[in-house]
Order: sequence, then C-alpha cells, then structure tokens
Amino acid sequence: MRPQPDFIHEFAPGKSERTLLLLHGTGGNERDLIQLGRELDPNAALLSPRGKVLENGMPRFFRRLAEGVFDLEDLKARTDELSNFVGSAAEHYGLNKNEIVAVGYSNGANIAASILLLRPTVLSAAILFRAMVPLAPEVQPDLGSTSVFIGAGSLDPIVPASNTKELVDLLRAAGADVTIRFFQSGHELTGNDVDAAREWLQH
Ligand code: MLT
Repeated sequence: MRPQPDFIHEFAPGKSERTLLLLHGTGGNERDLIQLGRELDPNAALLSPRGKVLENGMPRFFRRLAEGVFDLEDLKARTDELSNFVGSAAEHYGLNKNEIVAVGYSNGANIAASILLLRPTVLSAAILFRAMVPLAPEVQPDLGSTSVFIGAGSLDPIVPASNTKELVDLLRAAGADVTIRFFQSGHELTGNDVDAAREWLQH
C-alpha cells in the first residue's frame, strides 16, 4: 500500500511533470496559496500542506521563540518531517520527485530554505517570498543543480536586507543558481513579486 501523506493538505493534479509545493505563512492554511500556485503555473500539480505547529492557534511550519528567533531543534525536526511528507505524497499521487518546486511565503519560505540547506535533494527549485536565513547548516549542501528565486521587500520590517543577502550568499556558496529581486514593499506579497516569479519560472 502506498504511504498516506501525514499532513493535512490540499492536492490538485496538474497537466505537466512539475509540482508546486505551496508553503503558507504564519496563521495561514493549506488553501491560502492555491490561487497563487495557479497564477504561477496553471499546468503544475499543487501540493499544499498545513503547518503542524500552532502559535496562539496560528498554524506554522516550525516553532519560534520570538519573531525571527527560531527554535533550531524544532526547525530541524520539522524540516525532516516535511521533507518526508513530500516524498510520501509524491509516491501517493504519482508525482515526479525531480520536479518539485517549493513556493513559500514568510514562515513557509523559511522552512523551504531550511529544506534546501538540510535536505538538498528534495527540491529542484524554490521561490522564496520574504525569506530569511533559517539556520546555518553544519554540512555544506550541494545545490549545484538547484535554482532559487528570492522576492524581498526593501521596506520589510521583519526581514532586513542584510539578512536576505546573507541567505543569498549561503545558497550561492552551496552552488545554487540564485535570482534575487527587491521590491518597494514591506513583508506583504505584491503583484510585482508574483509577476517576477512567474516569469522566472517560465525560463
Ligand atoms: C518566521 O517565524 O518564520 C518569520 O518570523 C516570519 C513569520 O512567520 O512571521
């Protein structure tokens, strides 16, 4: 019997080999990014789990001690748990494991970055909106065949530009092909982010 994926999630089959792994922000759920996924790639399958951690009733993908201060042990364990979910969901739904592209916003972008750094074979690419450095990996991952788009807000009160640049450096040092775009916005996602990410995904 195929393993049952163990996160509450939405799944929508696609017409191409690509699957978008949609990872919501704090307080979101599995339905939040479905529309965004369709806008980014109308042909891709969509796999959208709900974060299992609750912070004052708000779903997240890992625990934090304060805004921007992460519980690293929990982050590592949750990164493994989510990576394993992606593997079992790929088997369950018959997805191509070599074409899984994460699309994360805020907390979802942070766990996607953590998957890149700790489980580098899970994702073929990632779109990270308003991401920060999740952790410093003990072992440098090999991201030589992974491409990453980062959409940052130049007025973001939660993610300073210096932190975004640190993330870019970390990913590039591991061999990732990183595109970084700064938008005139805060932590919120804008239409310009979506347009730029869509264009990036098409090339
Ligand atoms: C996080 O906790 O991942 C970041 O502080 C972003 C957020 O979710 O607010």
